Amino acid sequence: MRVVVLGSAAGGGVPQWNCRCPVCRLAWARDPRVSWRTQSSLAVSVDGRQWLLLNASPDLRAQLAVVPALHPREEPSGGGLRHSPIASVLITNGDVDHVAGLLNLRESQPFSIYGTRETLDVIGGNRIFDVVSQDLVPRVALDLDVPREILPGLEVELFAVPGKVPLWLEEGDVAVGTESGATVGAVLSGNGRRMVYVPGCAEAHEGVLARLRGADLLLFDGTLFRDDEMIRSGTGGKTGRRMGHMPMSGPGGTLEVLADLPVARKVFIHINNTNPALIAGSPERGQVEEAGWQIASDAMEFDL
Ligand code: MLT
Ligand code: MN
Ligand code: ZN
Repeated sequence: MRVVVLGSAAGGGVPQWNCRCPVCRLAWARDPRVSWRTQSSLAVSVDGRQWLLLNASPDLRAQLAVVPALHPREEPSGGGLRHSPIASVLITNGDVDHVAGLLNLRESQPFSIYGTRETLDVIGGNRIFDVVSQDLVPRVALDLDVPREILPGLEVELFAVPGKVPLWLEEGDVAVGTESGATVGAVLSGNGRRMVYVPGCAEAHEGVLARLRGADLLLFDGTLFRDDEMIRSGTGGKTGRRMGHMPMSGPGGTLEVLADLPVARKVFIHINNTNPALIAGSPERGQVEEAGWQIASDAMEFDL
């Protein structure tokens, strides 16, 4: 199973277009300690020919440009001038950084969109997504906790994680930490290997941890280092948990809760531009690495 990180950042990317936080400043200055990063998406394949995208970010077009395996090619069977190795796109929630890239995939190309009923209803409730014609691009609802082969040799099982409705659908008092099909993690199995992808998780309780144990690769929510880092830096008014993202540090943070988890490789993904662990050589990066975690960067690849 080959896994390519198309975009390792959270919404906004690194640097974010309107941000001068310490991390973004280094990025704008092209300081080698902070790599530029695009928004949250992965590509996975077992045979190297047919690919599954995990989330479709607003940066998708630029992400595809730098990964030759995702470029159109001539098939042995012929088939004309139009082609894409992207056979399927799986959406883990309805957040802008996970669905807006679907609009890039609108040029009459057949593929399939997978997600829970809840997430497909979010897309279905917004007519702009009809630019991706449902005549050519079926939307296939996946039940939670039921494995399904969505590419030859690649099985996916979705599981609910504590989360909330997408930010752009928030109204009134928002329930955070509810578990439904609105926010899911994905277990991908192929070649006898297993990877787990959880780009957003408000809390890792035992039920979540049970899904992660024994994985060959874990790509987990690394949005913020400190729960209140956006409030403290003046870049936002919400804690990470309020946004549906448990922080890396502190009580109940990822470094603590996932410390003893038997997982071959732990990688933080969906990292917000305010997160100081993005700075190579920072104390926060040191803490993350000391705990056995890696910080994802764009174009990182894993062969499982
Ligand atoms: C999130 O991960 O919390 C969302 O992507 C926020 C957003 O919609 O910008
Ligand atoms: Mn996000
Ligand atoms: Zn910033």
